[in-house]
Amino acid sequence: MTNCSEKTILHDNVTVGENGTLRFAGVDTAAMAKKYGTPLYLMDADLIRTRVALYQNEMKAAFGGESRPLFAGKAFCTKAIYRIMAECGMSVDLVSPGELFTARSAGFPMERAFFHGNNKTDADIATALDSGVGCFVSDSREELLALDRIAGERGVCQKILLRVTPGIDPHTFAAVTTGKVDSKFGSPIATGAALDLTKLALSLPHINLVGFHCHIGSQIFDVLPFVDAADVMLRFTAAVRDATGFVAGVLNLGGGFGVRYTESDPEFDYAAAIHTLAAAVKRDAEALGLPLPTVLMEPGRSIVADAGMTLYTVGTVKEIPGFRTYVSVDGGMPDNPRYALYRSVYTVVNATHADRAPDRAVTVAGRCCESGDLIAEGARVATPERGDLVAVLVTGAYNYSMASNYNRIPRPPVVFLSKGKDALAVRRESYEDLVRNDL
Ligand SMILES: Cc1ncc(COP(=O)(O)O)c(C=O)c1O
Repeated sequence: MTNCSEKTILHDNVTVGENGTLRFAGVDTAAMAKKYGTPLYLMDADLIRTRVALYQNEMKAAFGGESRPLFAGKAFCTKAIYRIMAECGMSVDLVSPGELFTARSAGFPMERAFFHGNNKTDADIATALDSGVGCFVSDSREELLALDRIAGERGVCQKILLRVTPGIDPHTFAAVTTGKVDSKFGSPIATGAALDLTKLALSLPHINLVGFHCHIGSQIFDVLPFVDAADVMLRFTAAVRDATGFVAGVLNLGGGFGVRYTESDPEFDYAAAIHTLAAAVKRDAEALGLPLPTVLMEPGRSIVADAGMTLYTVGTVKEIPGFRTYVSVDGGMPDNPRYALYRSVYTVVNATHADRAPDRAVTVAGRCCESGDLIAEGARVATPERGDLVAVLVTGAYNYSMASNYNRIPRPPVVFLSKGKDALAVRRESYEDLVRNDL
């Protein structure tokens, strides 16, 4: 829906309308705020479909066979997204019975679901087995034993991947680094634990081990850590073959490709990265005498992040001379905890006056009773005043899915945009919703 002569801000789906207001996915943000109120999450469904197609097509071209992406539902989990994933023929990665329930409620075919989690309870395992989940991603000795027992009670043999840690540090933010030896996820290859668990999995009658999984981290702009991880994983696959005779046919390399949150983030060529990775996997497999595995990847952020935007209304604008200007909005850490958690940096736009050049650095604060309730510091915007709309860009990943009700603030609605039309996907929580479970 973007006209090529339109001015874009950071991404092609963010443009400035003739009246000076911000447009997103070809839709006027002021009209959306008027219709649905603020705070408001907007999602560009067309971009989501484009990214899904990119991953599917490039992975098929690069790796061949059954290789494919799974959407990491933790990045953005609603029935609407699982409907899109089902339509597009995607597989998904689910990490909890709640995500599983959401996908199932949307009619997502469970045989295309992969069930993760570093601490699955017996109840989680039973729920996933009874739902017909296609594949477990198993994380520990305790889980393997419990899964074998619970699958045995049902007379089934469950397909699994074993999650291992390749010992790769991609130098991203520490909290989103997961592939190092010191991690709560998976078992380390380096200590021998991964081989021991592989032997255990192979010995259990109700478990069908088909391959290995790793995830090295998130928001990574360099393909080399993924190449290194693939190398370690294939060497491990060869070591397992040599020790046990088992040749793993599936290699899941996790998610983690980076997304541009600000002008200073690099452009990342997902297709080129997939092809580089495929070349490395093919080279290693050949050198190690392994058949080419079915390669899975689990992108979350890079499918939905820049497909999202959050709109707020400005309330208080407080200048503290010599210090800073606080622009308080009607949302905050309950709808976007990423600044408070990770110091994540965002691009902020005065959506009412998107045609004005940014003229001031501000701190965007939320409305919670918490000094750390900030969304951005040092964000350059056209000076906002009470009543202006402010847009925070690239909020499609890990915003709605991480949202809370802190201070009993209802979660905002989610509106999907496609071909210039808007459709409510999640309604705004009511105060009644907030007390629904209180007795
Ligand atoms: C196991 C696993 N797979 C996939 C993802 C998705 O990563 P991203 O959203 O960075 O692509 C994550 C994110 O934490 C993860 O832990």
